[in-house]
Formats: sequence, structure tokens, C-alpha cells
Amino acid sequence: METPNAEIVSEKARIRRIVEEARAAGWTVGLVPTMGYFHEGHLDLMRLARAECDLVVVTLFVNPTQFGEGEDLAAYPRDLERDSRMASSVGVDYIFHPGAREMYQEGFATHVEVEGLSRIMCGASREGHFRGVTTVVAKLFNIVPAQRAYFGQKDAQQLVIIRKMAADLDFAIEIVAVATRREDDGLAMSSRNTYLAPDERAQAVALNQALERAQELVDGGERGADRVAAAMEEVINAYPLVNIEYIAICDNILLRPLEELSGGVLVALAARVGKARLIDNRVLEIE
Ligand code: PAF
Repeated sequence: METPNAEIVSEKARIRRIVEEARAAGWTVGLVPTMGYFHEGHLDLMRLARAECDLVVVTLFVNPTQFGEGEDLAAYPRDLERDSRMASSVGVDYIFHPGAREMYQEGFATHVEVEGLSRIMCGASREGHFRGVTTVVAKLFNIVPAQRAYFGQKDAQQLVIIRKMAADLDFAIEIVAVATRREDDGLAMSSRNTYLAPDERAQAVALNQALERAQELVDGGERGADRVAAAMEEVINAYPLVNIEYIAICDNILLRPLEELSGGVLVALAARVGKARLIDNRVLEIE
């Protein structure tokens, strides 16, 4: 059976009206914020939203304010037709795809920043990145007043920051985390994987292998964060095209660095592989 096409809406007022009417009729609305160029990871977010909600709105906006100078805003892959087909295939109802002016009117001057958390880990090398993310996500929460919003666990720090923003600013929306989708060799799916040359793609498995090593050590009883990080570094250093930016071992709620591993532990890393900056993580539950 043919699935109906997801309808593309580019005006804020229209998508808000659609969502408000759905809610007035007693429907549950799910929001999936994205920057497009979909892969199976995005589709997992949409599938879960489809399973849990009556109306599913995907937002597709390559948000300029979360890209720093010299980053890949212009090169970021875009293909609306393909994205629209993929979203339709999993039953998305609407794609909100605004232009930059629709999102940021002339004279735009208000920003949302989660202090502290935005400046560490990925925020240390990507100045202003999380401020751009929280600003656009706060706007999307207002434009698409859904009851649930779906985000990928792959962007673990983003997820922690968005949860904190939603709690601090009393957004009446449930933040749902969706597990990372991986290629057969373990590489986390990402739109930025398209930047990898074949030899870089082959070595990019280092990130997941380092995380597997961390898991193995913890399963074997290791509780020292420094030793786990050193073992991860050793794994990655066997791949000369992979340059570690950071390895962080911290609690999964406020990203506080840990010395001894216990409770919900986030093991996260970022690395440069050719033109791509890749991130990955694993959450370990330790008794
Ligand atoms: O994760 C992303 O794709 C983006 O950071 C988001 C949440 C859509 C905000 O632009």
C-alpha cells in the first residue's frame, strides 16, 4: 500500500495552527527536530514518534546559529526530495521546513544558553554551538507545541542540555531519547559520515571499538575512569587517521567528570577523521 506523502509546511503560523487543532481534538503530537539528510537513525526517531503519537511533525532546518566560523554549514548535506520520501515511508504527517528568515527575523537578538554544560566536551571546541542548538530547539518547542520530542542518544551531550533547558524553563514537553543506530561494523550513523573518504570510513570504526573496550573493562570490574580512558586512547591510536579531540567519562545527568565509575555513567568521545568530526558514546549502568 502506498503511504501518503508527508506535507511540507514552511510557515511557522501554519504548522502551529495544525498542531494546536490536533491537540484541541485530543491528539498526542510528536515532534522530531532534525537537520535533514536522513539515515536509519533519523527514521528510528520518526518510527517511535509514529508508534506513540497521533500526529508526527518532523522539523528539517539546517540551523545556521549552531555552526561556528569555519564549520560545515555550507557543505552540510541537503536533499529535501529524498528526505521527504524517507519521512513519508515511515508515516510522518508533516515536515516543517522553514527558510532561515522565517526562523530568524531581522534583528533577532534573543538566545537560550544552558550555562556550564554548553562549554564543556563538544562545547569546548565548538564555541556557541550549544547556544545555537538550545535557541533553535526552544523556538521549535514553541512553534510546534507537541507533547513529546524525540532526540538521538548519539548526541548525548545535546540530549543532556536539552533536558536541562526543558526542566529549567518549564517546557511542557517530554524529551524522549532514542538509541543510536549503527552500521554493520559499529560506526554510529551520522549525516556527517558522508564526508569520509573510503580509508577514513574504514578507520572510523575506532570510535565504537574504543567504547566496546570501555564496556569490556567495566564488565570485568574496572572502576577507574583514568584507566578506562587510557585503554580507549590506546584502541584509537592504532588508527592513524583518527585524531581524538576528547574522551569524557562523566555522570549522565550533569556531565560531571568521574574518577570512580558508579551509577549512570556516560562514556563519550569526539574525534576528527579527515574533514569529519565524529562523536559517539555509551551509557553504562554500574552498580
Ligand atoms: O541534532 C540535530 O540535528 C540538531 O542539533 C537539532 C536538535 C535538530 C537542532 O538544530
